[in-house]
Amino acid sequence: MSTLKGKSAYTVAVVGATGAVGEEMRDILAERDFPVGRLICLASERSEGKTVTFRDREVPVERLTERAFAGVDIALFSAGAERSRAFAPHAVTAGAVVIDNSSAFRMEPKVPLVVPEVNGHALAGHFGIIANPNCSTIQMVMALKPLHDAAKIRRIVVSTYQSVSGTGQAAMEELFDQSGQVLNLQQATPKVYPHQIAFNCLPQIDAFAEDGYTKEEWKMVHETRKILEDPGLQVCATTVRVPVFRGHSESVNVELERPLSPDEARALMSAMDGVVVIDDPGRGLYPMATDASGSDAVYVGRVRVDRTVPNGLALWIVSDNLRKGAALNAVQIAERLVAAAR
Ligand SMILES: NC(=O)c1ccc[n+]([C@@H]2O[C@H](COP(=O)([O-])OP(=O)(O)OC[C@H]3O[C@@H](n4cnc5c(N)ncnc54)[C@H](OP(=O)(O)O)[C@@H]3O)[C@@H](O)[C@H]2O)c1
Repeated sequence: MSTLKGKSAYTVAVVGATGAVGEEMRDILAERDFPVGRLICLASERSEGKTVTFRDREVPVERLTERAFAGVDIALFSAGAERSRAFAPHAVTAGAVVIDNSSAFRMEPKVPLVVPEVNGHALAGHFGIIANPNCSTIQMVMALKPLHDAAKIRRIVVSTYQSVSGTGQAAMEELFDQSGQVLNLQQATPKVYPHQIAFNCLPQIDAFAEDGYTKEEWKMVHETRKILEDPGLQVCATTVRVPVFRGHSESVNVELERPLSPDEARALMSAMDGVVVIDDPGRGLYPMATDASGSDAVYVGRVRVDRTVPNGLALWIVSDNLRKGAALNAVQIAERLVAAAR
């Protein structure tokens, strides 16, 4: 079991350091001045010999192996669930705390699934692995937590508009390439996605389950219940990939146990750490992916009454999936662990 106590600087490993989330992790560790004594950058054998930047310095990329975690205090994993399942236990055995961005451990009862502003208390008593939730879930629970505390949410209906960076580097290249192909009247060639993503919307994220929902949709259901500690919460999700490079948007309808006016909801969400309300439709002001891209907050707007259910509200939630949806949330977890060890 790891110990972070008594240290002023930490050896941090980023697993998947060459990827979209890994790059953001390196940037955010530097931006927030996380006490990194040494950064170990791990990726596949394809990246051996490459370097990546951290604090204006070049860091060599090493191959992910079982022995790569000697001396590591904190391991930030973002290299896919298969790598997390195979290597996170070795990191823990070597004495590291693992903060895992993949879906590998999220629903294991003993693994805390944490958004620090929402359920930071769940970090206490972890067993070496802490899971970072799915990007779409993080931004939704950030906005909904204060409404749930004030008026108890019974039911959530959410439709997502998820950017291609949520799938990683190769998907961003695919949107770029296909956009060029379509504008040049050529046939778009799908490789990462099952269909053309340029100038299109794909109502499929991850594989379909037998009931017709996708795994991404089920992640939103189960993860929301676990983070809000409400196993009876009803959640119906439709997750859609859209031709946006960065920033996920969500249309959310909630049914509450007690009434809340839009003004009350805006005030509650504005008071939530990490949430910013932008809601002045008369002046054309509402959150958009282009504005959220590159920033840390979860943005909420278009708050209005949903008259189709008792105590209903409708809202629009936008955030940068690579930052609060992944790397920032992971680094915030690491910050909490370090603060608790001091
Ligand atoms: N993108 C998001 O918004 C987001 C949000 C939440 C969670 N996540 C999760 O974060 C993880 C990474 O996502 P991403 O978007 O950064 O993907 P990505 O851009 O495709 O990067 C994948 C990273 O994993 C590494 N990797 C792949 N196969 C490997 C192997 N066999 N051994 C070692 N390293 C390997 C890659 O290294 P090479 O460069 O050497 O191939 C690369 O560094 C996934 O689990 C994803 O579900 C992503």
